[in-house]
Amino acid sequence: MSTTSAPIDVDRARAETRGCEGMAHLNHAGSSLMPIPVADALIGWQREEEFRGGYETVDRYQDKLENFYDATARLLNCGRDEVAFIENATRAWDMAFYALDLGPGDRILTTESEYGSNMIAYLHRAKHTGCEVAIVPNDSHGQIDVAALDRMVDERVKLISISHVPTGGGLVNPAAAVGKVARRHGVPYLLDACQSAGQIPLDVREIGCDFLSATGRKYLRGPRGTGFLYVRGDWIERLDPPLLDQHAAELINEREYVMRGDARRFENWECHFAGKAALGVAIDYALGWGVEAIRDRVQPLAQTLRDRLATVDGVEVLDEGAEKCGIVTFRKAGEEADAIKRRLKAHRINVSVSGDSGARVGYDRRGIGTAVRASVHYITLEREIDDLVRALGTAG
Ligand SMILES: Cc1ncc(COP(=O)(O)O)c(C=O)c1O
Repeated sequence: MSTTSAPIDVDRARAETRGCEGMAHLNHAGSSLMPIPVADALIGWQREEEFRGGYETVDRYQDKLENFYDATARLLNCGRDEVAFIENATRAWDMAFYALDLGPGDRILTTESEYGSNMIAYLHRAKHTGCEVAIVPNDSHGQIDVAALDRMVDERVKLISISHVPTGGGLVNPAAAVGKVARRHGVPYLLDACQSAGQIPLDVREIGCDFLSATGRKYLRGPRGTGFLYVRGDWIERLDPPLLDQHAAELINEREYVMRGDARRFENWECHFAGKAALGVAIDYALGWGVEAIRDRVQPLAQTLRDRLATVDGVEVLDEGAEKCGIVTFRKAGEEADAIKRRLKAHRINVSVSGDSGARVGYDRRGIGTAVRASVHYITLEREIDDLVRALGTAG
């Protein structure tokens, strides 16, 4: 939960971001730019390791590692014992998903815009356990049809699992409405918040999810190789993680071990300690601005970009959803997304391309091959949006 909602001081935010001068970084959904306190925490930790030793650095700065749990608990409105540090969103998600008991005939309900790695995991488990995956149709806004979801839940359904913000578009799925359905039917609910964390307020009690995964490097502006998993307290003891080590469990004798009682049973012992400390700083930094304030700056900026793009000849904006976020996807007649990305790069504008297996299900259903993904954050300037639109309008 955010601590303030005063409007963002963009000048200060940019002054605290060394990377933002000299290029228009419109790839925050790929990997954002770390602010100075985050980069300094990361590099400072690694300097300590260089001069002091890795174990000694952990001993000395244990409080900075513990801060990660407190910061994440504030971000999500959960308990610090409900949080695990994991190296990325995919593995965080996997640790919950692969711990769930699924058998022949059990059903997983997901969305048309589900992330590719998650789809692969559903199919993987379907192959090995005989469970089934069913895709809930979209409503007229292109987001999950919550009424259809409600109708599809029956005694076979053992999991509802959705991406809050899909990889290939600005759509925000109605996570809390899905949570109400899950609660009403008593079905576990896994939310992939990889692309919403840091740009949309996340309150796990309000959303009603049982598990939530996210990454550090995107809208939270943390380092690469960082992520986390939230597991609701009353689930922790009931879940048997797919992998255990001697941090997640303790070996009692040659025949027995006991698992930890908190969400750290989903963690590894060896991890990116510098990243863990720096992710705590990044989350505190985001909370310092306030996630509501971030959303209130990001959403109108992204809408400005969509509106401006729609005026460029041959450009089609592809974002769906009743609520949209900082991610803007589009294609241009006669020019491939990869070529556009390269051309914008020559203008010092960073964007990415969507359409590989990450967005496969939704894009195939909509007849989209690839799309350009431009993603704004609160440090984005309207001037940078103008630059992108101008560069796009010039002959390809
Ligand atoms: C919706 C969604 N979920 C999960 C992921 C995976 O995140 P990570 O690369 O941190 O594993 C992504 C990455 O783009 C994503 O867009």
